[in-house]
Amino acid sequence: MSGIVAYTGSSEAAEILIEGLSRLEYRGYDSVGIAVLGPSGKIVRKRCSDKSRRLRDLLQDGVPPGNTAIGHTRWATHGRPSNENAHPHTSCDGKIAVVHNGIIENYRDLKEDLIEKGHKFTSETDTEVIAHLMEDMLKKTSDLREALALTKKKLVGSYAIALISADHPGEIVAAIKNSPLIIGISDEGNFIVSDLPAILPYTKKVIFLEDGDTAHLTPDKLKIYEESGSKIERKIETISWSPLLAEKQGYKHFMLKEIFEQQRAVQETLMGRLQVEKGQVVFENFKPDPEKIKNIKRIVLIGCGTAYHACLVGKFLIEDFIKIPCEADIASEFRYRKPLINKETFVIAISQSGETADTLAALREAAALGAYTGAICNVIDSSLAREADEIIYTHAGPEISIASTKVFTSQLTALYLLMLRLGNITGSIKPEEAIKISEELIRLPLKIKQILDSQQDRIEEISKKHFKQKNFLFLGRNINYPIALEGALKLKETSYIHAEGSPAGELKHGPIALVDSELPVVIISTEGCVYDKVASTIEEVLTREGRVILLATQGDERVLQFTEDIIWIPPTLELFTPLLNVVPLQLLSYHIARLLGCDIDQPRNLTKAVTVE
Ligand code: M6R
Repeated sequence: MSGIVAYTGSSEAAEILIEGLSRLEYRGYDSVGIAVLGPSGKIVRKRCSDKSRRLRDLLQDGVPPGNTAIGHTRWATHGRPSNENAHPHTSCDGKIAVVHNGIIENYRDLKEDLIEKGHKFTSETDTEVIAHLMEDMLKKTSDLREALALTKKKLVGSYAIALISADHPGEIVAAIKNSPLIIGISDEGNFIVSDLPAILPYTKKVIFLEDGDTAHLTPDKLKIYEESGSKIERKIETISWSPLLAEKQGYKHFMLKEIFEQQRAVQETLMGRLQVEKGQVVFENFKPDPEKIKNIKRIVLIGCGTAYHACLVGKFLIEDFIKIPCEADIASEFRYRKPLINKETFVIAISQSGETADTLAALREAAALGAYTGAICNVIDSSLAREADEIIYTHAGPEISIASTKVFTSQLTALYLLMLRLGNITGSIKPEEAIKISEELIRLPLKIKQILDSQQDRIEEISKKHFKQKNFLFLGRNINYPIALEGALKLKETSYIHAEGSPAGELKHGPIALVDSELPVVIISTEGCVYDKVASTIEEVLTREGRVILLATQGDERVLQFTEDIIWIPPTLELFTPLLNVVPLQLLSYHIARLLGCDIDQPRNLTKAVTVE
């Protein structure tokens, strides 16, 4: 996902941009660039498409002086990664520079018209049309924001745009449609960024722009206009994230840091919501009319990738404890399969970023069909959070590594809370059972710590034994089948090893053909209702000489006969085993990727939030 950082103020803008952009590197990018409006009244651009070079290298032949600038990390959609396609893009006269996230769907038509009018294009991007359109509009009005409002009328698609003009020193204008931008306010100047970590070191005072807004910033003033063109005051919020959360703090990689942050992330997601002694849950934002909940006939959970795996766990929880039929669906499938949805369906989207294009589109489709909608999200005020009828935030803090870890366990935590809340309302979970569940739920953070403290050396040893293999198989059953899928996804993403996750019971229907004396097979066999069934699966794999790695319940001596590669998990209620079992699988992927020398925090071809279809 591309990233935007723009600044106008009293400090040297280039330095601020490089710092801010480096904090967005985690989103994945293939090129980077800045444009600075200097004291000479000229815009100086620096762009680079060599990701292996550090951002600071952009400035190796001197920092362009100036107090107003825009910057961008690009994740290519239109036009290959190259210096020419890197943002910012400029108008023919070089007086307008623009950065853009999203896609301008009608850019071909616009480009043809502009070329006919004599404009010269220097890139293959859709973004460049914005700079040329602005050049034309500034012939009609000298007001930079008005020119952007006129330009917007020509654009079809989604966008977050920030731009500067050589004829408008100190000014930045910005506009959004279906793509977020946040204004940061400080005594040293004002910012426009696409993601909070970029401004965390400078300010905690922010305004989240709303869809259709345009903004006009100078070093000490800001004005916001809504879609209709009227000026509007948007609320200034104070964010609580500490800048330290977006730094490695001595860990070699963000992924490792975030794996170890899970105790805190789960704790904070529970905090203030779970009343253990009553077995009750209260959410800050999700306070539905009980009658509405009682009328729900079906629940549909939607998400992509790791978030979809959380949905699969949620299905088990809701059907088992709430007794309402529940489906888990991949958002990109849901949006095109003409789902049967009505006002008695509760559709809940799960997403870290809240900006995943497929998940957003699926939620909108559900809303259009009359569903009651909800979202479980990590990013405050993200598009999904704003559009859903109900929002439950995961309080995991910023997740920097592309491979999701702490947000996944926080999503499961939010699902446990949601299950309890629904159970409180519908009466499907009896008070004594709710108390028992709550008492164990509150212990999970400590159990995560126990796993990390006691099993990390063992997991590293197992990784050393198997990291050279080309294929891995992950098996789990019942509520842990989604964790087998998640274990496989994590390994694929971080180490590029082919890994397949399968329900253990499906082994004999196909995947067993893969098993030979080379294949590592990770089997989740913690205690639960399918324990004996999984034991038979272990036998099946061992008979074919597969190299079994087991996840087993601490103290379960029966598994010692199978293998020496056992990762021990503290005992817990069966419904909570997915949350504990996933932790060592994340660490296994991390160590294997590290041993292979992979780019762990930014794996190739991946981006933190897939905001395009
Ligand atoms: O931001 P979201 O949770 O909506 O993102 C969904 C997936 O793109 C995401 O979970 C992806 O699978 C991660 N790279 C998993 O580690």
